[in-house]
Amino acid sequence: NRCFYFDELAGTNTFLLNHVDELSNGDLCIAEYQSAGRGRRGRQWLSPYGSHLYFSLYWQFSQGLSQAMGLSLVVACSLVSVLESFGITGLGVKWPNDIYLDGRKLAGVLIEMSGTADSECDLVIGIGLNMAMPAELGEQLDQPWSDLSGLDSMPDKTELAINLYQQLLKDIKLFETQGLAAFSTRWQSADIFAGQQVKLLLGEQQISGHYLGVDEQGGVILQTDTGTQHFVGGEISLRGA
Ligand code: ATP
Ligand code: BTN
Repeated sequence: NRCFYFDELAGTNTFLLNHVDELSNGDLCIAEYQSAGRGRRGRQWLSPYGSHLYFSLYWQFSQGLSQAMGLSLVVACSLVSVLESFGITGLGVKWPNDIYLDGRKLAGVLIEMSGTADSECDLVIGIGLNMAMPAELGEQLDQPWSDLSGLDSMPDKTELAINLYQQLLKDIKLFETQGLAAFSTRWQSADIFAGQQVKLLLGEQQISGHYLGVDEQGGVILQTDTGTQHFVGGEISLRGA
């Protein structure tokens, strides 16, 4: 496999998406700075120079997009496992793509697709992890954030990236053979909404309910006034009630 390493890029996801034809499963891109780091739905991902990890991995799912449903949950579990192996506690996952530390957003996962979803599906799995947020930048964020700077010892970025890479390969292969069911214990034990009342936002719509976890397709299960309902889709956000 190859690792494309850059000082500066528009974004590591963008780079791999622009080169899918030349990539094989497990190829990686890492940058020290992203001038146009992205979150879900075109939101910005603050990507200051040198401070954080910007990491993207290429993977092709031979049976199409349906085989990759729920992958962001798998990737969040991988990151939690790796951070825990460095002795970090207080981690949580928020459906479908966020990793929290002590109740504030530490990292995010952005999975993007190249081409059409029917047959082979080229995916780029992007992870942004805050290691040491410059104070003046943190002030720009419109939601609570965290980083790794308050820990007794800061993990080494290269070691973290290598361990994350190995964990991801292991977990993606497990996901390919066994599906999301193989991750339900890991997800549940880190799920920040377990047992809570939540609000589901879908465009102008807001649906309140009791959070029952995720299903085997990676959808959210809510107990609402009208019964148990499953929700999937990239346009959905969850918030605490
Ligand atoms: P959801 O995924 O539930 O819709 P979200 O608000 O976390 O909610 P995302 O698209 O996942 O949305 O993430 C993008 C958001 O993350 C930005 O709008 C900003 O609030 C926040 N954000 C951007 N950069 C960083 C960063 N480096 N660290 C923490 N948070 C960030
Ligand atoms: C989110 O929480 O919305 C996801 C944030 C994902 C950020 C990472 S950083 C590496 C990769 N390149 C990007 O432009 N975005 C992802």
